[in-house]
Amino acid sequence: MKINLKTANKVTQIHAEAGALSSLGSIAAELVKGRRAAIVSDSNVAPLYLERAKAVLTAAGFSVGGIVVPAGEASKQPEKLLELWAEFNKLGITRKDVIVALGGGVVGDLSGFAAATYLRGCPIIQVPTSLLAMVDSSIGGKTGIDLPFGKNLAGAFHQPVAVVTDSNMLQTLPQNRYTEGMAEVIKYGCISDAELFRGLECGSVSAEDFVARSISIKAGVVERDEFDLGERMLLNFGHTVGHAIEKNMGFGGISHGEAVAIGMVIAAKLGVRLGVTPQDVPERIISVLERYGLPTTTTYSATELAAAISSDKKNLANKLHFVLLENIGKGVLYPIEPAALIDELKTILI
Ligand SMILES: NC(=O)c1ccc[n+]([C@@H]2O[C@H](COP(=O)([O-])OP(=O)(O)OC[C@H]3O[C@@H](n4cnc5c(N)ncnc54)[C@H](O)[C@@H]3O)[C@@H](O)[C@H]2O)c1
Ligand SMILES: [Zn+2]
Repeated sequence: MKINLKTANKVTQIHAEAGALSSLGSIAAELVKGRRAAIVSDSNVAPLYLERAKAVLTAAGFSVGGIVVPAGEASKQPEKLLELWAEFNKLGITRKDVIVALGGGVVGDLSGFAAATYLRGCPIIQVPTSLLAMVDSSIGGKTGIDLPFGKNLAGAFHQPVAVVTDSNMLQTLPQNRYTEGMAEVIKYGCISDAELFRGLECGSVSAEDFVARSISIKAGVVERDEFDLGERMLLNFGHTVGHAIEKNMGFGGISHGEAVAIGMVIAAKLGVRLGVTPQDVPERIISVLERYGLPTTTTYSATELAAAISSDKKNLANKLHFVLLENIGKGVLYPIEPAALIDELKTILI
């Protein structure tokens, strides 16, 4: 699958198919004027794929350098930015050259921000290797790092020139990471693709397929709302309550995908209560989540989640855009005040 994602001042070529890594060199050669490339990867992904990525870029005429950061969220910090800028400088990267992000969302966000800021912006190609990065973080141009007082607090919108997604790379992804990414895939089915959802319900859709469908959905939403002012908020289905659960469990207590899975069930139940969502939807979501090994319940009460919901930076100006489902495949924004939402949640959570 190839899509051209058009945003305000850029076109991003998205290539997604099994084996796409072998085309990285020719894609870069076509889109990039310079012939230097800096590949940023992490300590888990580099041993698996860095040499191959270097080889295909070298074969296409690039002089290539590799930079490896420790795997894990801790690498999304300001000190790492300084290190990357210094490495780019050593490699002689100019604004005509290219940064390649080879890894999961951590590498994508960190090197995306480094590319957005080095020399006021260098081209970047995202090569996502985790399921979450393939279907979510590599698309849409959001980049950033964590600060001591919060996650993703410094960053920039910086659209990649290309995204090269090779679903074969999922073969080496640890099972728990795969499961976590499935929560976002199921989310896309819920908010915008009933057929994808049915495919997941009966297990008849291949990884290559659900990755491609998820990418198309995210790309479409981003194209229509690059800066997250309207439709893009639909991607937060399951995330308002999910983030609150993540915050309460503390860093690493529950994965993002697991928290979102529970959040989607709660949002579906809330939708039924508010007369927006058909009765059978929560059960259907629960059984798909169970099929992919995701949790569907929490022991937190609404009161325990309340503080986290009210302080979430996304819940602007006291009006929160909660995402509900009009049906499987049709998400809608439902404006509600945080206090009213918490009252509603009290009827669902014990
Ligand atoms: N920019 C966005 O729009 C956006 C959206 C969602 C999430 N994010 C960010 O993404 C990050 C999470 O991304 P993630 O879940 O990919 O985490 P991650 O980058 O830490 O990757 C998860 C783990 O899997 C390993 N891994 C990745 N691909 C592999 C492969 N093919 N084979 C073997 N191991 C592999 C990594 O080394 C890491 O240990 C968070 O920092 C989050 O804030 C950004
Ligand atoms: Zn998410």
